[in-house]
Amino acid sequence: MGVAPLATAGQGTKPARDEGMPRHVAIIRDGNGRWASRQGLPRLMGHQAGVSTVRRITEACANRGIEVLTLYSFSTENWSRAAEEVEGLMGLARIQLAMQRSELRKSNVRVKHLGRREGLPPAVLEELDKTVEATADCTGITLVAALNYGSRQEIVDAARSLAADVAAGRIAPTEIDEAAIGARLGTAGLPDPDLMIRTAGELRLSNYLLWQASYAEFIAVPTLWPDFTEDDLARALDEFRRRRRTFGGKR
Ligand code: IPE
Ligand code: IPE
Ligand code: MG
Repeated sequence: MGVAPLATAGQGTKPARDEGMPRHVAIIRDGNGRWASRQGLPRLMGHQAGVSTVRRITEACANRGIEVLTLYSFSTENWSRAAEEVEGLMGLARIQLAMQRSELRKSNVRVKHLGRREGLPPAVLEELDKTVEATADCTGITLVAALNYGSRQEIVDAARSLAADVAAGRIAPTEIDEAAIGARLGTAGLPDPDLMIRTAGELRLSNYLLWQASYAEFIAVPTLWPDFTEDDLARALDEFRRRRRTFGGKR
């Protein structure tokens, strides 16, 4: 994969979001393993191939004025995979975070981490922290890397934090509301996802943004992540615009 700057609007400018466009798109980028297996390649080659899709889709979302793109990169359940694959994925994350850093900054992409720090190798955390820091003042799209992320764990952490605040007398149990919970999730401060896309055909959430995606529109496509193109994204956005969101109200 190259390291040429993403063809986004760059520092200081931000494309306007079209009417009806989601503010926040969350993607379950699945199918790397199948992509590799179908070609008789090791699974890691599929993960490697998926890296360029990340670049292309980040660029496409930024150019459409989407404010937040959250990409599921490694779940808390993915640690159960073969050690070789886990090590390969961690190596890939470390290398990409280092290699793409200056390019992300030039392209005005702000990177955030979503997930538990505990469990991630120190070398990955180091590159992650450096990239988050280097892009902290970027004002274009926010790219949220869900790495070592599990929604249930995130809710457990929020519950613990609330319990500690109650025990210390900082908040009364009756003051716990949706905002208090939302403020203690890793996504605090970000709008909820409006659109959730899952590639590679499975129809499940796999422990992704269970709280935040309450009213997200769900679109599943059969395309495997390494084959997912800007046209596939455009089709999903068109479908999103055709959906009528009622949020429990009447039609
Ligand atoms: C998604 O691709 C990436 C990660 C989960 C890390 P998979 O590796 O799950 O690909 P499939 O589902 O086996 O094809
Ligand atoms: C979800 O995909 C996690 C990521 C895309 C990183 P999985 O492949 O791990 O999910 P399942 O096993 O199909 O539910
Ligand atoms: Mg999978």
